[in-house]
Amino acid sequence: MRLILAMPGNELFAESLAAAGGWEAGRVETRRFPDGERYLRILSDVAGRPVDIVCTLANPDPDFLTLLFAADAARDLGAVEVNLVAPYLAYMRQDRRFQSGEAVTSRTFARLVSGSFDRLTTVDPHLHRYKALSELYAIETQVLHAAPLLADWIVREVKQPLIIGPDEESEQWVSAVAERAGAPYVVLRKIRHGDRQVEVAVPDLSRFRDRAPVLIDDIASSGRTLVEAAAQLPQQGLRRPVCAVVHGVFASEAYAQLSAVSERIVSTDAVPHPSNAISLAPLVAQAMEQQAGAEGPVRRRRPPEPMNQVELAGLQSFPASDPPGWTSGGG
Ligand code: R5P
Repeated sequence: MRLILAMPGNELFAESLAAAGGWEAGRVETRRFPDGERYLRILSDVAGRPVDIVCTLANPDPDFLTLLFAADAARDLGAVEVNLVAPYLAYMRQDRRFQSGEAVTSRTFARLVSGSFDRLTTVDPHLHRYKALSELYAIETQVLHAAPLLADWIVREVKQPLIIGPDEESEQWVSAVAERAGAPYVVLRKIRHGDRQVEVAVPDLSRFRDRAPVLIDDIASSGRTLVEAAAQLPQQGLRRPVCAVVHGVFASEAYAQLSAVSERIVSTDAVPHPSNAISLAPLVAQAMEQQAGAEGPVRRRRPPEPMNQVELAGLQSFPASDPPGWTSGGG
């Protein structure tokens, strides 16, 4: 049976995923040594099993090393495949060198993930200049879309909606949401001048005054895109909008600023946040199940490495349930 392991902060999602798929939710112990280095121990038996590590990557810099330790430990301990379930995939936007000397972090990040995992499952990654994750990632990737779930939420919660995309890039999911919700949609125009400097041009929307505006975006990060769009709607006689996002990253003051100009804000649970109203676990579980059914015999991308003398001596010196005192002292 698959084993679902949660990285710190992803326990809720991992439990829902395991429950939705009928899989075992495993246990991982992590903590910091006094010097800040990470201790990690997988408490569930991974040998001979496919292991899926759940780690949303809204906060990639502090979380990533722990994730690699977990993947490597699972493989060392005999997992037959080690997969990453990252409902939000980080480092998708710096996908080319906009100015000389810049790091193309999308590529570097993809290389690091591809080196440690067999498969990546994610939801609505920010594909813009690249059309598919396979152009960046060397491993098998599974891309899922939250548009149907957003649309179903809108149908349940909003009467007479007008679906609005804040920029041209959003047209792909805005049109899908609108079609499923049976609602009209419009797409605004955005010019980004900097990380937090955004200008949004709104066309004449006066014919939609009797509708409830619903702003849709894949990511709310600084929140400026949605704030600028939302703030302009009442100037045209429309109501304050409902904002629905797939990935509610909401950096620093973003959520408070957006709340001030919105009727309501909802997000999927791709990133844990108080605005979460749409669960992705059933969608992800179903896709993982289909994937497993479609695969032939389990393939092992990288066999566990043979133990060296130091590791063997360590194993023989204490039972796995009884780590020596020095593990709490940072060595
Ligand atoms: C951009 O193209 C994306 O679709 C989002 O509109 C953007 O990432 C939102 O970023 P922010 O919240 O920082 O304006």
